[in-house]
Amino acid sequence: MGRIDTLLAAMTIEEKIGQLNMVASTLAVTGPGQLGDIHEGIRTGRIGSLLNHWGADEVHAVQRLAVEESRLGVPLLLGLDVIHGHRTIFPVPLAEACLFAPDLWEKTARAAAEEATQDGVALTFAPMLDVARDPRWGRIVEGPGEDSWVASQIAAAKTLGFQGQDLAAADSLAATAKHFCAYGAVTAGREYASVDVSERTLREIYLPPFSAAVAAGTAAVMPAFIDLAGAPMTANAPLLQGWLRRELGFEGVLISDYNAVAELMNHGVAADAVEAAALALKAGVDIDMTSDCYVRGLPEALKRGLVTMAEIDVSVRRVLDLKDRLGLFDDPYRRGSAWPHGARDAERRELAREVGRRAIVLLTHRAAILPLPPEIRRIALIGPLAAASREMLGPWASAGRAQDAVSILEGLEAALPQCRIDHAPGVDIAGQDTEGISAAVDLCAGAEVVVLCLGEAAAMSGEAASRADLGLPGRQRELADAIFDLGKPVVVLLSSGRPLTLPWLFERADAVLATWFLGGEAGHAVADVLTGRFNPTGRLPLSWPRLVGQVPIFYRQRPTGRPTKAGEHYSSSYLDVPATPQFPFGHGLSYSRFALFDFKCDPSSAKAGEFVEVSVTVANDSEVDGEATLFLFVHDLVASVARPVLELKGVRKIDLKGRERGRATWRLSTGDLSFLGPNLNPVLESGRFEIHVGQSADPAGLLTEVIELTP
Ligand code: BGC
Repeated sequence: MGRIDTLLAAMTIEEKIGQLNMVASTLAVTGPGQLGDIHEGIRTGRIGSLLNHWGADEVHAVQRLAVEESRLGVPLLLGLDVIHGHRTIFPVPLAEACLFAPDLWEKTARAAAEEATQDGVALTFAPMLDVARDPRWGRIVEGPGEDSWVASQIAAAKTLGFQGQDLAAADSLAATAKHFCAYGAVTAGREYASVDVSERTLREIYLPPFSAAVAAGTAAVMPAFIDLAGAPMTANAPLLQGWLRRELGFEGVLISDYNAVAELMNHGVAADAVEAAALALKAGVDIDMTSDCYVRGLPEALKRGLVTMAEIDVSVRRVLDLKDRLGLFDDPYRRGSAWPHGARDAERRELAREVGRRAIVLLTHRAAILPLPPEIRRIALIGPLAAASREMLGPWASAGRAQDAVSILEGLEAALPQCRIDHAPGVDIAGQDTEGISAAVDLCAGAEVVVLCLGEAAAMSGEAASRADLGLPGRQRELADAIFDLGKPVVVLLSSGRPLTLPWLFERADAVLATWFLGGEAGHAVADVLTGRFNPTGRLPLSWPRLVGQVPIFYRQRPTGRPTKAGEHYSSSYLDVPATPQFPFGHGLSYSRFALFDFKCDPSSAKAGEFVEVSVTVANDSEVDGEATLFLFVHDLVASVARPVLELKGVRKIDLKGRERGRATWRLSTGDLSFLGPNLNPVLESGRFEIHVGQSADPAGLLTEVIELTP
């Protein structure tokens, strides 16, 4: 008998259920309700895993209880939300998505895994793969943006980065793909609300990132809090057992979200903890995170015949198997002992700076005001986000510390030692006091440029942080208007976890940069871009709305019978606002200027199984060295199901010196032209396809060729 069989055979029912029971430590709070003494539960084998408990000593202390004092000595599994860095904090995921760079996505996850495992953590609740098209939903900040193809690339890169080559390695962190699935489609963007999307949308948009995570070997998956058309995900057997386990062959662990098993009662599908436990277990949920329903409910569920011992054993085996794969049986203290804290800190901070500046998106740039000239001598740095180092860490900062975060003020001071920088917040982020505005305005009098730092507090996005108004909170608009009224050159830095709808601001500012929450190196990253030490490359992973009334807004629209047309009354549009976004998906300016030409698809007709080489010349039409980003989209012109007008199939980045030219190429497979047919099975239909390349999803900037797929 193997180790796991032997253990299973020796376990009492309480010990088995203990393996399925994850409880929250008191070191951090990420949900409602806290447990008392965890030590007794660990000693008696009633707790198999912990979340929110980290630090090598702290982890080893509880691990010792499990290994040395519990009857069977099964090690604990330690989980934590290591979302965008652990001690070194990288940009929030939405900002990181702006990189369109799988190698860097992987690197930051690897760095986070190295740091978290130094703190004894073995499992992260990441990557978050919720495609989101509604910025009212605060959790848009945690995810990949609006596109499923991008989300799938991120899924693969992050899973690989966290887990490394060998899950048993001392610096490998088991990944949890979450939140399965379609959480981003909550009704009206309201947190935890119901989701109702078609089977097609589910399969085309929301499931593919999870397939990618499973293909990359994710150790765990977390069902979402929500119900999908009445079937809460925590008990959604067709998707968990059917799609994930049977169709995809996922053999890892399913971990409920925080308290979600108990919440099956609130959803109205379980009458008591016994039914809730039975429903979740039968749906394939192996670990009950914090709700205590498995402990309280499964023994009774067994008696009532709602679950069988064999079903419990399957879940226990999966949990033990994960612990085994993580090397916890061989050496429960491996994580946290391999090397001292602080090793390679400087390298990770450098990575945070690099990723931080790459996440910045230059949204508008009217007066060629940037980069700031080297001879600049006086800047007024105004706004409540200018010196707000804690905010820079964003809403999920793991073990990141505010004192390690570089504010925008500090970053600019370090980059421009010869320049006088006067700072005043003017107003609080969300307060109603406007008294500081006049002092802030006065401070601008002698400045050559005003840098205005506006936006949200970190806690205004993330979990339980939906907003119905996507404007600037508090009295920031009044501050901004007073500054604009001075007629000075104004650069606006927008810190936020979501796109903000500020058409008036984009109108008035000379330049606006989306600086999101860039993590510990935020200030340096911002300074690198403002001074031109780094030429911006970030691109929007979502369509930025003009007004809240436009959401959900995304580029991958189906053609309508009456397409949007200016001046055409009976067309798909609004009376009061253009149908287009403020900034399209993929948008992001550079200090260079790029032009595309000589677009070719070769051959222009292909059969199933063949490839088409797609290529385009990119010219840097400026003197400034820069990096161009190119997007490849396809559009099936006539198909058995109406296909989106644009579907992303590839991204290329190309470095070009001033006045240099280069050629970007893709090998488009005919498989990229397949789609889910009328019965939701993949089909490849012959016919004509538009192939587009462009610097964003803006139709006006796309180059187009038509290819034919022949039978
Ligand atoms: C969140 C998850 C998170 C968990 C543990 C929940 O409230 O939805 O994303 O992993 O808490 O902190």
